[in-house]
Amino acid sequence: MNSSAIRSTWSSRWAFILVTIGSSVGLGNIWKFPYMAGSQGGSAFVLLYFLCVLLIGLPLLMAEILIGRRGKGNPVSAMLNTAEETRSSPLWGLLGWAGVLGALLILSFYSVVAGWIMDYLYQALMGMRVDSATEAQARFAALLASPWRLGLWHTLFMVLVIGVIARGVVGGIEFANRIMMPGLFLILVALTLWGAVAGDISAAWHFLFDFRLEDITPSVVLAAMGHAFFSLSLGMGAIMAYGSYLDHESNIASTSAWVAAAGTLVGILAGLAIFSLTFQHGLQPTEGAGLILMTLPLAFSHMPGGNFFAILFFLLVLFAAWTSAISLLEPFVAWLTERLGIHRPAAAWGTGGAVWLLGIGVCLSFNVWAEYRLSWRSLDLNLFDGLDFLTSRLMMPLSGLAIAIYVGWVMGRGIVAEEIRLPPRLFALWFNILRYVVPVGIICVFCWYALPPEFRPGVIRILLRPFDVLLHLF
Ligand code: PHE
Repeated sequence: MNSSAIRSTWSSRWAFILVTIGSSVGLGNIWKFPYMAGSQGGSAFVLLYFLCVLLIGLPLLMAEILIGRRGKGNPVSAMLNTAEETRSSPLWGLLGWAGVLGALLILSFYSVVAGWIMDYLYQALMGMRVDSATEAQARFAALLASPWRLGLWHTLFMVLVIGVIARGVVGGIEFANRIMMPGLFLILVALTLWGAVAGDISAAWHFLFDFRLEDITPSVVLAAMGHAFFSLSLGMGAIMAYGSYLDHESNIASTSAWVAAAGTLVGILAGLAIFSLTFQHGLQPTEGAGLILMTLPLAFSHMPGGNFFAILFFLLVLFAAWTSAISLLEPFVAWLTERLGIHRPAAAWGTGGAVWLLGIGVCLSFNVWAEYRLSWRSLDLNLFDGLDFLTSRLMMPLSGLAIAIYVGWVMGRGIVAEEIRLPPRLFALWFNILRYVVPVGIICVFCWYALPPEFRPGVIRILLRPFDVLLHLF
């Protein structure tokens, strides 16, 4: 069960912070955060997202790093090793498996979305100009309709990801992050400054931060919580795998705080930049893919220097997606090399090849296979939506819940305290949040997502009932 090979370690604590920020900051922060804020009541979502990062994300991030470091192995071995040490059931190893496999499933569609970004980067380099909203929509629809274009960029992106993983932990993952993450921050700051000058930053600021109590609904709370999971890479073995290469001296709590703070900051800066441009042009913060792939090219096309900043912007998103995607491939590759002794490059290419194949299915699900859909009640999903649903809505919250239970209730306070070296009161605070707040919070998100949408208004009414009663009392 124990891997006897000498394991790599990051070259410093800062290197670990950098790669973990690299994993966390991805399409989730730059593509999804602004659109979620856009469609979920703006500032209410932003505030609740902060709260969720603090109360659920940060405690879980610490728990995942703890398991990885204590178990000194890929997520499966780390779970088995810690279960053995604490004399708990080896069935906990299944939690490691869920993470490792979930990460590969995410990667199969994440890579396709990253491919869209590469296609737009290429178009921007070729001097893309978009004159109307209809043209912007047609451009995006044309991309989705072409299996060849989707497949080509997806293939290229997978090669980039596999190439890094094949080079190893320090020489590959750490090296790639050392170059891309500072680049990402620089571009982001430049874009935000440009947004402030050329765009309507005050409208963006008000949209993101003018807090109105009445905007908070249970649906916004739950959306914010789900997003905290995805954007911090929780529950999918990625953080556990990275944590297993962390040395024993580093402080898990402060390291995690840095990661959570940086991820949130990137989301805010990206949101400010994107909404400044969106509002400047009187466009609406529309949904999902629409926001950055349709609204922004239109905004960029109408501004001086727009093409240059369009290139910078898509480069930024590509860096963010790339550093996250490598953390999705690493857990299973680590398992193959540690448990089966497979040479790292072979493991990386083999695993990457399988993910690539599934991704080709995802590319086809937008066009040739568009009529094959999974329909159940109000759900109507193609392969792309189906994989997203299965991983982000079901597997992530369930794994997060299991991790909170494992560290909070199964591992034992002694071992946990040995790893999380915090002053007693702070430790108690964290430990109680992990034991109570995190599981209850996740169960709420999970039930919400598992619930068919037509039942949701009813549940909201029931949840709001006590407040109604209180209001009528006064
Ligand atoms: N956190 C990444 C993002 O925001 C996605 C991710 C999820 C990465 C889970 C690793 C594990 O895009």
